Amino acid sequence: MNRVVMVIGGGGRESVLVEKYSLSPHVSKIIAISGNDLMQFVSKKPLITFPNIKTTDKNEILKICRLQKVDLIDVSRDDTVAAGVSDLLRKNKFSVLGPSKKAGKIEWSKIYSRKLLKKINIPQPEFKVFDSQKHGIEYLKSQKEQQWFVKADGLAGGKGAMPAKNNNEAISAIKSLRQFGRSGEKFLLEKWIKNNNQIAEEFSAFALSDGKSFKILGYAQDHKRANDGDTGENTGGMGASFPPLLIDKNIEDQVDKIFEKTFAELLKRKTPYVGVLFLGGILIGKKVYVIEFNARWGDPEGQVIVPSIQNDFYELGAAVATGKLNNISLKIFKTPRVCVAVAPHGYPISKKHIGEEIIGVLKFLKNKDTKIYGAGIKFQDKKLVTTGGRALHVVGEGKNIKEAREKAYNVINKIIKEGNKLHYRSDIGWRDIRRLK
Ligand code: GLY
Repeated sequence: MNRVVMVIGGGGRESVLVEKYSLSPHVSKIIAISGNDLMQFVSKKPLITFPNIKTTDKNEILKICRLQKVDLIDVSRDDTVAAGVSDLLRKNKFSVLGPSKKAGKIEWSKIYSRKLLKKINIPQPEFKVFDSQKHGIEYLKSQKEQQWFVKADGLAGGKGAMPAKNNNEAISAIKSLRQFGRSGEKFLLEKWIKNNNQIAEEFSAFALSDGKSFKILGYAQDHKRANDGDTGENTGGMGASFPPLLIDKNIEDQVDKIFEKTFAELLKRKTPYVGVLFLGGILIGKKVYVIEFNARWGDPEGQVIVPSIQNDFYELGAAVATGKLNNISLKIFKTPRVCVAVAPHGYPISKKHIGEEIIGVLKFLKNKDTKIYGAGIKFQDKKLVTTGGRALHVVGEGKNIKEAREKAYNVINKIIKEGNKLHYRSDIGWRDIRRLK
């Protein structure tokens, strides 16, 4: 049918979206803004990337949509949503799968999100809003010693939620909010949710909405810390597993209700949500609390869930963009998958190894049930070099989480044997591996 799809972004998440759209018989060409240099190997259709166009540059993006006669645009980045790219494209009669700036406020203002959830009675941590560091610090000095989260109100490149083990650490975190510029001018102080020695486990859930109706896409578990055993710095995510064995009917029912109430409230506010909504949840005992909402797919969660969707991806995207999600019956195969992120050595602290060559990766791209998606990587003088952040996402698929994980690590071990010095976690999926035993 010669449809042209644009995917905005250039990470592992957008790579799997490019792959999925390219499998649709309706699609003849894919445009990626900014894209990455490994996307061409996963796209089954001709792909054009625009490495010099910023994902927030709405006027340039609009120009490319016109020139390339784009039929559907998939917006899955927080900064793109906050820049109002979806709004401008819709105003110019393009079909967009992605929230408006106002609907996306559920991610780009943590204060707005907390207040919205409070209004509709969704379980969440206790919070207090501040617009001056002085008041935040005074408040902390009046509180008994406890654990906190300090959260910048605005987007902060995934670094805006800072855990603090005591009041002093929280004061230091408040002082460090300056690094986020305007995003850190207002902030939240959140109390850690007490778990009274009950199990407390995080998960990510995803739903797709056309503004009027919604469908659950699936669940995954992210591994946010840099090192094995969930230690070290917070990162965008060092790996993900799917489907989490933690998720049972009780959790599904609670999550369903949370999405239902949230989408209904956004519609009531005349900011209907069109696109993928990401619920970061924590299970305390048997009760689900919302840690945060994101107006997009997760990365690396997308890399393990998107391949499970069996529907024609163009038909699904077009149905969402035109308010016809109810016409689609979702087909999801819960084949276990484990995604392991591979980053330059020293990530995320040292930048010393950024720009180094990764040797011998291309020959592993054709594995049948293990996929490699590029992210912070580019060709330079015919060599693949890292550009910072997570460089590759290796996704293994198997009959269970153990087999899926083995497949991912087999490929990673081969990449390391080529002589590469890279950083990755060796325990992705550890919770479900333990549950399987
Ligand atoms: N993996 C977490 C995120 O995408 O924000």
